[in-house]
Amino acid sequence: MQAVILVGGEGTRLRPLTVNVPKPMMPVVNRPFLEHVVDYLRGHRITDVILSMGYRPAVIEQYFGDGRDFGIRLTYVVEQSPLGTAGGVKNVEPYLDGDTLFVFNGDILTDLDLGAMLAFHRERQAQVTISLTPVEDPTAYGLVETDASRRITQFIEKPGRDQITTNLINAGTYILQREVLSHVPAGTYSMFERGLFPLLLERGAPVYGYAADGYWLDIGTPAKYLAAHRDVLAGRIAWPIPGEPVIDGVWAGRDAVIDPTARLVGPVALGDRVRVEAGAQLIGPATVGDDCVIGAESTIEDAIIWAGSQIGPRATLRRCVVGAGCTIHADVAIANGAVVGDHCSIGSGNRLDQNIRVWPSRTLEPQTITF
Ligand code: GDD
Ligand code: MG
Repeated sequence: MQAVILVGGEGTRLRPLTVNVPKPMMPVVNRPFLEHVVDYLRGHRITDVILSMGYRPAVIEQYFGDGRDFGIRLTYVVEQSPLGTAGGVKNVEPYLDGDTLFVFNGDILTDLDLGAMLAFHRERQAQVTISLTPVEDPTAYGLVETDASRRITQFIEKPGRDQITTNLINAGTYILQREVLSHVPAGTYSMFERGLFPLLLERGAPVYGYAADGYWLDIGTPAKYLAAHRDVLAGRIAWPIPGEPVIDGVWAGRDAVIDPTARLVGPVALGDRVRVEAGAQLIGPATVGDDCVIGAESTIEDAIIWAGSQIGPRATLRRCVVGAGCTIHADVAIANGAVVGDHCSIGSGNRLDQNIRVWPSRTLEPQTITF
């Protein structure tokens, strides 16, 4: 069975983290997110994968090549301008070889049982089966109403508060009979969620919802990206954590050096060659990428630091994300959803708070921002 992964989005809500890398290549606990998705598919014996791409495709191709090193066969199809979710799958039609295919949104962390979903799809003789998951607030998703037999009766993308009739939403994994693509116009922007799905429902086509109650998260905002780390590190979803367990709840990569006076409270993941200096505190959940330096007396808690960043003495990082190759100088505080893009230099004494986002390669002079 072939799978198409939609990875063409610009990851707007994750900017500035997605300025240099597309969302699927963002590290989740020190591994590109898409590598996990590939492992997951291979685990379900799906080894023929087509990537429907648009934004920064070269970063993905350079990492995965033809897929051989990852145990799959990869085909890259790049669109010149965004074709949307349905247009993006229509665009790969020449590469499809079967009657049934899986389609995945490329930003979903899940342990959905694909075999069980496929059995459900076949039993119902569905044209489309959409995976469903319950969420507290459906307004950021596609709301899906079904009847008692799980046949879908309504699909409302990004519903208003007054349209909420259920907590079940589109979980971003589909099984399609290839023939439904005949309703999708070629070479033009169109979405499953606002185009094909409502159209099929209007025509009374057999479209079913497969509700699963396993782990599910869309990593597409900084808050969700932090939550993904929290959950992976807490073992709420099976995910290999790179490195070796060194002390309780702490994984460290090759040649990581931890000063004996540092205090580490798991779960904490350290990449290769990380240096943790005297008196530093790392309080999990925390993820530190390869080649980072965690300065003396600094405090890192519920934070993600990408590879090659230096955190200065007495800095405090709490519930925040710092991109790759940054220099965070002494006594800086970064907290409460703040996001610093790659290769920034944050001068001493700055205080970044309240979801502030610093674009890549910026320099903040000392004491420029306080709250
Ligand atoms: N090839 C291609 N072309 N892919 C695209 C394009 C495009 O123009 N636009 C978006 N994608 C990809 C994104 O890279 C992502 O993997 C996926 O399609 C979904 O796009 P998002 O931007 O993440 O959508 P969303 O999270 O707002 O909503 C979607 O996912 C929800 C579940 O997380 C919808 O499918 C909702 O109905 C659903 O509930
Ligand atoms: Mg999404």
